[in-house]
Amino acid sequence: MSEPLHAPRAGDPTPEPARRAGSPPLLETRSLTIAFGGHIAVNAVSCAFTRGSLTAIVGPNGAGKTTYLNLISGQLRASAGDVVLDGQTLGRSSAAARTRRGLGRAFQLTNLFPNLSVRENVRLAAQARAGGGLNVARLAERDAAVTEQARRRLAEVQLEDRADVPAAALSHGDQRKLEVALLLALQPEVFLFDEPTAGMSLDEVPVVLDLIERIKAQGDKCILLVEHKMDVVRRLADRVIVLHQGSLLADGDPAAVIASPLVQEAYLGRSPAAPGNPLRSAT
Ligand SMILES: Nc1ncnc2c1ncn2[C@@H]1O[C@H](COP(=O)(O)OP(=O)(O)O)[C@@H](O)[C@H]1O
Ligand SMILES: [Mg+2]
Repeated sequence: MSEPLHAPRAGDPTPEPARRAGSPPLLETRSLTIAFGGHIAVNAVSCAFTRGSLTAIVGPNGAGKTTYLNLISGQLRASAGDVVLDGQTLGRSSAAARTRRGLGRAFQLTNLFPNLSVRENVRLAAQARAGGGLNVARLAERDAAVTEQARRRLAEVQLEDRADVPAAALSHGDQRKLEVALLLALQPEVFLFDEPTAGMSLDEVPVVLDLIERIKAQGDKCILLVEHKMDVVRRLADRVIVLHQGSLLADGDPAAVIASPLVQEAYLGRSPAAPGNPLRSAT
């Protein structure tokens, strides 16, 4: 069901070895399943993702996209199936253990320390990456490498001028940027982004999209991106998977997947030409 890779395209900046067909996946889900009560939110999803790839995950609200990422990152425990990272089965390992092994889930607002400054939040993530854990007291040690990491990450998301305000005081868009800075500070191998630009103003969006594009251009990371905006999907993704009612409905080249009638109907449950259809511009 899960195609490994597409052939490299002319002008593709991704290094050849990372994309060569047959290279082992960095991340794989095998029949990954979770039921909440009687409701199966993610239903036996098997999919493999290689280094250098950016896969967009699309599907209607409630399709199971966020739950799928939470199962991969370990925020939720699977009812059945497994996640395999770099050939190692993750089993029931915790979210923290998975983070240490290179799975990076964008922090949610609840993971931030709202009363600490923006800079201190990023320093905590950098410190955790360096092995110091999420220990607030250790921030006082003023580790120079951690401080430099935090400075760079804040610059990358253009939050330097907000560095000293409490995280709780940020606008919604700036909080999303902070989440991305925290993820960058963790330096993961696999980046899991869940609608990273949701709630951002139009002028803020490019900051985050350009960053994701740069991570992709490194050629050795694996990126999963839940994204509703099809222009963004077309620009960034080299593959699209569609979840529908918890199941993998389609998997393949973005243009073909977006245009397929099956996806148009499943995504919307109504005519592709209807107003408000996020896929409408696909045709
Ligand atoms: N913790 C939970 N407990 C019960 N039901 C949940 C929980 N998390 C998600 N669900 C349900 O699982 C389904 C998939 O949700 P979600 O993954 O958030 O969808 P999406 O991100 O695609 O919009 C929905 O029906 C949602 O109500
Ligand atoms: Mg969601």
